[in-house]
Amino acid sequence: MSVLAPGRNLVLVGLMGAGKTTVGSMLGRRLQRPFVDTDAELEQVLGSRIAELFDTIGERRFRALESERVRHAAALRGQVIAVGGGALLDPGNVTHLRGTGDLILLDAVPAELATRILSEDGGASRPLLAGAADPESRLAALRAQREEIYEAAASHAIDTTGKTPEQVADEVLAWAVLVPGLLTRDEARA
Ligand code: S3P
Repeated sequence: MSVLAPGRNLVLVGLMGAGKTTVGSMLGRRLQRPFVDTDAELEQVLGSRIAELFDTIGERRFRALESERVRHAAALRGQVIAVGGGALLDPGNVTHLRGTGDLILLDAVPAELATRILSEDGGASRPLLAGAADPESRLAALRAQREEIYEAAASHAIDTTGKTPEQVADEVLAWAVLVPGLLTRDEARA
């Protein structure tokens, strides 16, 4: 690889509330890489919030549009990417993301995921939690359903329970520096 070639994408995956967006934007700043949040891009392109999209076009259509954004993001290198928690349910998305990047799973115990999400906006932006009498149990169920898919796709997992976003970002970088081709020489030295 040329020294000028961009590194592979650093892709953050995991359940809602895992910190993908917060940690991803922090990593983007630290590495001076563009940060792409595929959910935020989708909202921008369609001019509608995710929760509204679930209501207006339904989850099936949302997933198709999400896959388009994910593949669009995976077409370039040298980025930090965060994908929505359900993006890896489409095996094609996993193939595309792994083609140009390395996937890191951010995890946390359901109680902490629920606390983070509820403290953000009471869960209003998470349609999969809508109507859930007990968000923690709903998150525990989603985690059990998806665990195997997340673990198979990711090259590395970080338990973020009880950690600050800074600590998680430090752990991501400590791992990334050891992965051939993920960071450029300049990024690895910084
Ligand atoms: C979803 C996670 C959300 C968003 C949508 C569906 C999921 O993204 O894409 O509400 O299926 O887990 P975040 O993980 O960024 O909250």
